[in-house]
Amino acid sequence: MSDGVYPELNFPEPPQGRPYVFINMVSTIDGKIVTGNRDEPVQDLGSAMDHATMRQIQAHADGILIGAGTLRSTPKLWYPEGKYRFVASRSGAVDPFVRFFSDDPGRAFVVTSVAGAERVPEDAQAICVGEEELDFEELLGIMRSEMDIRYLLVEGGSHLNAELFGLGFVDEIFLTFAPKIKLGEDVPTIADGVALDRANVQDFELVCVKQVASELFLRYRRV
Ligand SMILES: NC(=O)c1ccc[n+]([C@@H]2O[C@H](COP(=O)([O-])OP(=O)(O)OC[C@H]3O[C@@H](n4cnc5c(N)ncnc54)[C@H](OP(=O)(O)O)[C@@H]3O)[C@@H](O)[C@H]2O)c1
Repeated sequence: MSDGVYPELNFPEPPQGRPYVFINMVSTIDGKIVTGNRDEPVQDLGSAMDHATMRQIQAHADGILIGAGTLRSTPKLWYPEGKYRFVASRSGAVDPFVRFFSDDPGRAFVVTSVAGAERVPEDAQAICVGEEELDFEELLGIMRSEMDIRYLLVEGGSHLNAELFGLGFVDEIFLTFAPKIKLGEDVPTIADGVALDRANVQDFELVCVKQVASELFLRYRRV
């Protein structure tokens, strides 16, 4: 596999009481994050360079968080040894026997609310915070204070990303633009969810841009 575009990566110190949160996604030129349907894998969207870059970014995370939709769409998904891995779910509809869990059972968790706890499969560990709805602020606090997670990578999908953007917890975005057009009004973008008011539109600054062939690797930081 080729080397990625970030042989070295540095991050600011994490904020008080939670990890520094960075998202990594690949999208088409028209902003879509899937090549097929929402419930299907997207390995064909980014190049080999994008995949290698994804592994470089993962190497800098203490933990990785994804939405259950992403795990269901990509059941063969795996993470490097030693990384905490979390999957957010309300329904508990996650397969506890996929590599996400079986590669490192001690470090793999479903994260859900207290109400969602009973729906989590017996064979999976769960972290339950918030009564009816998962409380992300408390979850991030637990990651930092009890698990010593200083840098948290979020790898989508669009629903989970939108929740974290909406709460103001996204410090950085790594975004690969793949030279493709997908189209479709209901095709997911890097973050769907509830629209922000004009007054609450969030500003990011471009801190790095790299080009490899026709692919662009962008890094944005919240201002
Ligand atoms: N291009 C890329 O970089 C990229 C990256 C990642 C994923 N993808 C693609 O994106 C698609 C999946 O994206 P998606 O938006 O449909 O799904 P998603 O964001 O991965 O997962 C959504 C699910 O996460 C859980 N969830 C979200 N918010 C929650 C909350 N507040 N509390 C508890 N659980 C919560 C729910 O799980 P339950 O349904 O279990 O309740 C929800 O249905 C797939 O096709 C995947 O291949 C692309």
